[in-house]
Amino acid sequence: MREKLSGYDLAWTTDWAALFGVQRPLILEIGFGRGAFLRYLAGRFPDHNIVGVEVSNRCLVAGESLIARENLTNVRVIHSTAEMALYHLFEPASIEQIYINFPDPWFKPGHSHRRLMQRDTLDAMVNRLSVGGELTLATDIAEYAELTAALLAETPGLTNLLPSAWVNAMPERVVTKYEQIARREGRTCYYFAHRRNELPAPDVPVIREWAMPHIVFTSPLTLDEMGAQFAEFHHDDGDLHIHFMGVYRGRGALLFEVHVGEATIVQRIAFLVSDRAKREGREYTLQVSALGHPRATKGVHKAVGLLGAWLLSLHPDAQPVINKVAINEDE
Ligand SMILES: C[S@@+](CC[C@H](N)C(=O)[O-])C[C@H]1O[C@@H](n2cnc3c(N)ncnc32)[C@H](O)[C@@H]1O
Repeated sequence: MREKLSGYDLAWTTDWAALFGVQRPLILEIGFGRGAFLRYLAGRFPDHNIVGVEVSNRCLVAGESLIARENLTNVRVIHSTAEMALYHLFEPASIEQIYINFPDPWFKPGHSHRRLMQRDTLDAMVNRLSVGGELTLATDIAEYAELTAALLAETPGLTNLLPSAWVNAMPERVVTKYEQIARREGRTCYYFAHRRNELPAPDVPVIREWAMPHIVFTSPLTLDEMGAQFAEFHHDDGDLHIHFMGVYRGRGALLFEVHVGEATIVQRIAFLVSDRAKREGREYTLQVSALGHPRATKGVHKAVGLLGAWLLSLHPDAQPVINKVAINEDE
């Protein structure tokens, strides 16, 4: 059984040729569901490396078993949001084709930020497509088709391959599970096909991993005294949401449970404050625990900086000794 692949564990960016064992053009399917379209792509493009990304565990299990059952050697499925994959895993101009079939609409009030088709994510797709590459999308929701058409019309880096904004049939394609349901229930489907042209792509840098942050500080307080003063707190700043949820006392350490939500990655991780001298009371290290497979992002640096500032604020004689945090509390 192959190791499960996740955007939380893969290198940013990922060496796809090494992962597949062969350098071939890349195809990305976002939200592959039960995998019918991945199977179709595998047969239609045997000389490509095909990556499917999904957030649903059931779909990932289905994808893994499809690959094993049908020996689809040119397909890998990755646990990742589209956003994490596009921003962290793929280099600019590295993908030849992107497919999105029946994306979740997220039309309820307050949910629009979860929608796949929005300006930032579309710009990331344009940036990651190679010139001549293609973006294909299908939906059975008229409002989603309208908003997709409006976004695409304002995307100079893509050229429409169809005679109109969309067509209502693409007979050469395999029918996906959602498409089957839509047809059975009598809904119209809307298909889009665009090609990446030679115009400059929007500037969407790859988000790479930072060095792991840590802080060394002195404090007259004991770990118990620091822990006793903790009260849950939040920091919200645009796309960054940090929540210090709780603190637990371990042997020679305090463990803080932290949620760090950023536009492209959400992490539930832990920070450790441990006694450096292995005795209560003098010098402490604040670092990111290995629990929860943390990735050192800008948000994680900000969160360590915030917790460090709070720990130092607990006593007037507390002093920083080493600060390996790229973003401190005043930034
Ligand atoms: C409506 S279903 C369509 C499934 C399949 N493409 C089909 O046509 O049958 C949408 C799929 O997208 C996945 N999904 C939703 N948001 C996602 C995201 N941000 N990144 C990757 N997949 C996502 C869901 O888990 C779900 O399987």
